[in-house]
Amino acid sequence: MIMKELSLHLLDIAQNSISAGAKLVEITVEVDHARDWMRCEVKDDGRGMDADLLKKVTDPFTTTRKTRSVGLGIPFFKEGAEGCAGTFELESTPGAGTRIAASYRISHIDRPPLGDMADTIYGLACSGEGVNFVYTYRVDGRAFVFDTREIRKALGDEIPLSTPQVALWIRESLIEGITELNGGV
Ligand SMILES: Nc1ncnc2c1ncn2[C@@H]1O[C@H](COP(=O)(O)OP(=O)(O)O)[C@@H](O)[C@H]1O
Ligand SMILES: [Mg+2]
Repeated sequence: MIMKELSLHLLDIAQNSISAGAKLVEITVEVDHARDWMRCEVKDDGRGMDADLLKKVTDPFTTTRKTRSVGLGIPFFKEGAEGCAGTFELESTPGAGTRIAASYRISHIDRPPLGDMADTIYGLACSGEGVNFVYTYRVDGRAFVFDTREIRKALGDEIPLSTPQVALWIRESLIEGITELNGGV
């Protein structure tokens, strides 16, 4: 089972980071056409997972949420990558954070498109939970970096990122930065 767009997986994985109390979530998408390879990573400074949870978390029946008995975000992310001649990586340290990544063969017939990352990062950045996000989009050696810490520094503490004019500006600069690189995946 894989989602229709990789951006939806990234949103889901980033939501785990927020639930884990992360203050900084770093999302990276790297595209290398020459190697026919791409990679999506989410790294956080949340509470992390102990060895026991880490072992079980790729199993579709593992969750620590109380509202539903089955956790599917991580198993789907893993299966999706492995079904596209890619790899899955998960590293976590209790009290320090978690890094989760999936790679894909770009040309694999089952690989979903990246999807609307501008919308995904915009939604996360303006969700108003005081979490900072860094989005790095790297295409064939060129990079676009979006960092909410820089925006907060420029705005001061009084103005939330969800303020309409700020949110609009965030959305436009994401679209512009991403379109300029135009990774075509
Ligand atoms: N970034 C993370 N930091 C700490 N714990 C995590 C993180 N991501 C996932 N987990 C743990 O793994 C469990 C399974 O995650 P997931 O497969 O996304 O299912 P769900 O979010 O539906 O529980 C979560 O309930 C949580 O306990
Ligand atoms: Mg989840």
